[in-house]
Amino acid sequence: MNTRLLKADEEAILEAGELLRKGELVAFPTETVYGLGGDAFCAASSKKIYAAKGRPSDNPLIVHIAELSAAERLSPELPESFYTLAEAFWPGPLTMIVNKRPELPGETTGGLDTVAIRLPDHPVALAMIKAGGGYIAAPSANASGRPSPTLAEHVMEDLNGRIPLILDGGEVGIGVESTIVDLSEGKPMILRPGYITAEMLERVLKQPVGTDPALLRPGEGGRPKAPGMRYRHYAPKGSMQLVEGSSEAVVREICRRLSESGKRCGVLCTDETKESYRADAVISLGSRSDLSSVALSLYRALRELDDAGIEEIYSESFETEGFGMAVMNRMLKAAGYSVVKV
Ligand code: TXA
Ligand code: MG
Repeated sequence: MNTRLLKADEEAILEAGELLRKGELVAFPTETVYGLGGDAFCAASSKKIYAAKGRPSDNPLIVHIAELSAAERLSPELPESFYTLAEAFWPGPLTMIVNKRPELPGETTGGLDTVAIRLPDHPVALAMIKAGGGYIAAPSANASGRPSPTLAEHVMEDLNGRIPLILDGGEVGIGVESTIVDLSEGKPMILRPGYITAEMLERVLKQPVGTDPALLRPGEGGRPKAPGMRYRHYAPKGSMQLVEGSSEAVVREICRRLSESGKRCGVLCTDETKESYRADAVISLGSRSDLSSVALSLYRALRELDDAGIEEIYSESFETEGFGMAVMNRMLKAAGYSVVKV
């Protein structure tokens, strides 16, 4: 299949809509990462999504909508908390899990009786969802196991020849996937941390919000509830270790490991420390005081390390307060939870 990469103008979006209505797939920008969209009510489209990504079919897809009222066709019972959070955070990087209607194919929800719903904050995504019929199932548009795409070129790298169209909307805004909150069982529970934090949800809901304990330390907290959080995603080709401690101790430890290693080494660091390292690739994720820039650079940096043929990666770590929880969760997954404390 020939994959076309088109600037996301009005004409390209209409074409995307036609493809989606015919059951074909289209990759598109959102404010978090690029998504790989298909008609959520078409079981065959969902199957194509799994095939294109090489994704296990028990890992459910998020259904993207462009208007709040569309949620009623997905779920027979939307709790009050759903409307409260939608009003506060939609359009935006929040995905909510609720009970699903039987009409929504099990192929889309990985056989679960719940559905994840998201209304993204991106003009191209919203226009394309409308043009495509209003219900677009979309995982991140990476090949399974690769970092999520933050640029259309990343999608091309992973899915060239596997899908007919990529809408290019430039770089995304946030760079890590949406926060997922489960509203299907009593107490709201964060299954995947993102830009919208537990504190932000609690402030609006005026009730406690839990966080899946398996997210930062698997094994200690049991199995993550979101099936996708159980896989070793975001994995670079090289082996990766996070180094935790005071800034000076971390720099010293990484430099020691660099000098002892005979392999091609890469370092993920910050503007404050980048001059301290000599390695085959030294990538600053941004300033330590600006976590948003770190989040936005992370997946691109992991891809760059792969492209440079790096075999060993040493990375500085970050606080897990607020948005830091999402950033560290992705870094820990990339490192297969390998952490050195100094
Ligand atoms: O920011 C995002 O959410 C991006 C953009 C494209 O919107 N999408 C995204 O999709 O990250 P994906 O498929 O890469 O991640 C979806 C996650 C997976 O971990 C999946 O297991 C979980 O959501 N999930 C989906 N439906 C679920 C459900 N009903 N119950 C529990 N987890 C669910
Ligand atoms: Mg993904």
